[in-house]
Amino acid sequence: TDQPLVIFTPSGKRGRFPVGTPVLEAARKLGVDLDSVCGGRGICSKCQVQPSFGEFSKHGVVSREDALSDWNAVEERYKSKRGMKPGRRLGCQAKVEGDIIIDVPAESQVHKQVVRKSADTREIVMEPCTRLFYIEVEEPDMHEPSGDLERLCAALETQWQITGAEADYSILATLQTRLRKGDWKVTVAVYQAAEGATPRILHVWPGFHEGGLFGLAVDLGSTTIAAHLCDLQTGRVIASSGIMNPQIRFGEDLMSRVSYSMMNAGGSEEMTLAVRTGMATLVETLAKEAEIDPALIFEAVFVANPVMHHLLLGIDPVELGQAPFALATANALTLAARNLDLPFHPAAQVYILPCIAGHVGADAAAVALSEAPHKSEDLVLMVDVGTNAEILLGNTTKVLACSSPTGPAFEGAQISSGQRAAPGAIERVRIDPVTKEPRFRVIGSEKWSDEDGFIEDAPPISGICGSGIIEAIAEMRMAGIVDPGGLIGSAEQVGTSRLIPAGRTHEYVLWEGDADTPRITVTNGDVRAIQLAKAALYAGARLLMDQMGVDDVDRVVLAGAFGAHISPKHAMVLGMIPDCDVDKVTSAGNAAGSGARIALLNRSARREVEGIVRRIQKVETAVEPRFQEHFVAASNIPHASDPYARLQA
Ligand code: FES
Repeated sequence: TDQPLVIFTPSGKRGRFPVGTPVLEAARKLGVDLDSVCGGRGICSKCQVQPSFGEFSKHGVVSREDALSDWNAVEERYKSKRGMKPGRRLGCQAKVEGDIIIDVPAESQVHKQVVRKSADTREIVMEPCTRLFYIEVEEPDMHEPSGDLERLCAALETQWQITGAEADYSILATLQTRLRKGDWKVTVAVYQAAEGATPRILHVWPGFHEGGLFGLAVDLGSTTIAAHLCDLQTGRVIASSGIMNPQIRFGEDLMSRVSYSMMNAGGSEEMTLAVRTGMATLVETLAKEAEIDPALIFEAVFVANPVMHHLLLGIDPVELGQAPFALATANALTLAARNLDLPFHPAAQVYILPCIAGHVGADAAAVALSEAPHKSEDLVLMVDVGTNAEILLGNTTKVLACSSPTGPAFEGAQISSGQRAAPGAIERVRIDPVTKEPRFRVIGSEKWSDEDGFIEDAPPISGICGSGIIEAIAEMRMAGIVDPGGLIGSAEQVGTSRLIPAGRTHEYVLWEGDADTPRITVTNGDVRAIQLAKAALYAGARLLMDQMGVDDVDRVVLAGAFGAHISPKHAMVLGMIPDCDVDKVTSAGNAAGSGARIALLNRSARREVEGIVRRIQKVETAVEPRFQEHFVAASNIPHASDPYARLQA
């Protein structure tokens, strides 16, 4: 055959095509991942390719300057109006003239990979549920009467092979004016939960829509609500923010919220309203930061513990307050955002990850999706640290999970100078074991404080966050300021004037404070709160190890909104986690949040997590007598029976 040979990179797919074949068509025929929203009309520019000129003898191809057709009028017009990177061509306009190698840049691929921000390098493959399609709809004809929507659906079928689309009713009111305004050319947002599932038209824009398409990944925690606003076309995170969960006024931990609901008529509804209002505030903040209209948010994914899950959905969590801890449903849910009064596009779709069972919720499922313990050869312990700790232990043969009520201390709540991780919060602490003098770092600066506690160019010190209090107490233990039982010594005992009497005990002055900043101390109450929190965490992990029949784990992954900031050494000095080689302890950042983001950007991942949860065995901490035993033993720093001798050796 003397038809030109076309090779696409990076896929390496190749084939011969008649002279005059558009590059986009060749790509489609070979199954090359080349994007298009306008269907080859030279409007969307998603199909950009980069022809490689030169000799490629390895491939048996010599590509020449004239291996592609000259610029045509459509392409010229696009280029002069919008501009294009040098060397780029529109794949739908450029035609094959001779042997050629064509590179498809990442931004022109539908399934482009999105690199995760966190420490490890796993990537998210783009396969969003909602995509844009540009179509030309036939005009009405009095002699062949049919509805505008029916002709729109027919156009989707002939131009994009999308069959059987249904319309969200919210589009109907404006459909006719938009079709006419766009002169029968429109862009539609189509949502499809899975391949083969019924396509759903969420929105219609007159003409070609360039305003983007966005989704929200939400980690709905008891103390903090954190969300990432993502571009559904590129996968990029365009804004991230977090707020305190406004439900805190009904109780700091989950059980106190469950009892609030039990004791107060209408209590559950009040809390549902609070969390939804909180979401509205958060969305407003994110949209403002990213300078987008919240009505362009078409999807949201939520991960949450079971109590938050129920309260978001408007389900009274009362059954979760007592054995057998029945969930209203453990299955994944897909529903319209308007059912939850969320301030997105009226047709936006919400996906909520499945819960595992009892108190082990969708947040644990999200950690499993993101960190994949079921794919680990060695035995891995994963701890997602929050007001409730989600703990997973397992490997390729078996995965166990539990949830442990650590309380909000790790998030800086219940701590005398505690605050959420935000600029000005002390996040790192070192205490000299000899002089007992502290040095610290605050969020918003890379520098450590000098001996007077000053940090050049840093935001004013406002408090101490979760990772800061963990380090402070671990450092106090190592410097002999705190004893194994958690008691802070006196100035005379320890030999530092930084210890001052406070009630019947003492407190350690980390920062003296000045005209603009408060004094920051670590009190015995703070030590106690952290002791309780870490004992619950440790006891949960030990319970899973008992169940698995092991005394040791191969490695530990610390996760959580601030999990990435916890230093493994300090976690171990404190006895938050079972002993393990320090270099086998890694941090995974906000694994639950990453799980939410994966499910937002890749619909197959939703099926994956639904499969994973069925294989995870739940262990209920609340009814296990051994949990109490482990808890009591773990209240010491680091632990009654496994001192940190191993660490110091
Ligand atoms: Fe839209 Fe080429 S496919 S410009």
